[in-house]
Amino acid sequence: MTPAIDLQDLTKDYSVGFWRPRPYRALDRLSLTIQPGEVFGFLGPNGAGKTTTLKLLMQLIFPTSGRAEILGKPVGHVETRRRIGYLPENPYFYDYLTAEELLTYFAQLLGVPGAERTRRVGDLLDRVGLGRERRFQLRKFSKGMIQRVGIAQALLNDPEVIVLDEPMSGLDPLGRRDVRALILELREQGRTVFFSSHILADAETLCSRVAVVAGGRLAASGRLTELAEFRIRGWELVVVNVSPSALERLRPIATRLTEISSGRYTVELPLAETPEAVVTMLAGAGASILSLNPVRDTLEDFFVQQIAAAGAGARAEVVGDGDARR
Ligand SMILES: Nc1ncnc2c1ncn2[C@@H]1O[C@H](COP(=O)(O)OP(=O)(O)OP(=O)(O)O)[C@@H](O)[C@H]1O
Ligand SMILES: [Mg+2]
Repeated sequence: MTPAIDLQDLTKDYSVGFWRPRPYRALDRLSLTIQPGEVFGFLGPNGAGKTTTLKLLMQLIFPTSGRAEILGKPVGHVETRRRIGYLPENPYFYDYLTAEELLTYFAQLLGVPGAERTRRVGDLLDRVGLGRERRFQLRKFSKGMIQRVGIAQALLNDPEVIVLDEPMSGLDPLGRRDVRALILELREQGRTVFFSSHILADAETLCSRVAVVAGGRLAASGRLTELAEFRIRGWELVVVNVSPSALERLRPIATRLTEISSGRYTVELPLAETPEAVVTMLAGAGASILSLNPVRDTLEDFFVQQIAAAGAGARAEVVGDGDARR
C-alpha cells in the first residue's frame, strides 16, 4: 500500500546568527511512515521540531537533506496538493472578512463550484461550531474561534490527507471535544490525519500510532498500546478500618501511604510486593479493602522518559565547520 506520508532521513538546518550565520539543526534524520486511514499523533516538547516537519511537508520550507513524500509523490506535486488539507500552527487571516466570506473566498480559489461552495462552507462552519458566528468579522473572534476557522479552512478541499499543527491549541474543553469528534469522523471516512500536539490525552483518545520527537530526533514511535501498554509500576490499594498495628506493618513496604479521610487510606505498593499477601494481612487485621488497582505508566510518564532518554538538551546545536556540538 502506498503510504499516506513517508519521511526518510528528513533533516533541516536553519541558519542562525546575523553577523556570522551558522547552521542550526532543527530536525535530524527523521524517518516516519504513516499509512492511509491512520490518525497519527506527532508528539514532542516545545522546540522539538514538530512544526518544522509539518512545514517541510507543506513546502513552506525546504529540507537540507532527506526525502518527504505524500501519497507516493514528492511533496509539492501539484495533483497531490489538491488532496491535502493543512492547519498552520498559528493561523492568521485577513480579519475584516467574516468567517463565511473568508471560507467562501478560499473555496473560490480552490475552484469549488457555486452551489457546492455555499453548502460546503455552511456545513464546515457548523461542524467547527461557528454556525451562529458565521457573519462576524474575524477581528471579533477569540483565539479559539480563529483556530476553528483554521480547521474549517483545512477541510475545505475535502482532503484525503489532513496535516494539523496543534489543532487543540487555544481551544477550551468543549472545543477540544468538538475537534476530537471531528478527527474521529475524518477517520471513519477513511482519511489520514497527521497532527502535532503536546496534549497527550488527545493522542491517547485519537491515535492509532504516535511518534515522539525530542531535540529534532525521533525518540520513539509505534502503537500506543505497544509503547505504553503501559508497564505496571505497582499497586494502589484503598482500605478502611486499618488498625494501628496494621498501619505500622504497612509503613515500611508502602511507597506512599495517605490518609484520605479518617480511617480511610490510599496505599501505594511497589511492584515487588505481592498484593495478595498485603491484602491477607490487612483483612486478618480487620480492615476492609475498597479497591485494588494496578498502577500503570501513563503516556505522560512514557513521554517524560523518552524526552529524558533523548537528552532534549543534546541537540546538534551547531553543525558543519567541523565543530558539531552534540
Ligand atoms: N526560522 C527559524 N530559524 C531558526 N531556528 C528556527 C526557526 N524555526 C524554528 N527554529 C528552531 O528549530 C527548533 C524546532 O522548532 P519547531 O518550531 O519545529 O518546534 P516545535 O516542535 O513545533 O515546538 P512547539 O511545540 O513549541 O511548537 C527550535 O529550536 C526552534 O528554535
Ligand atoms: Mg510547533
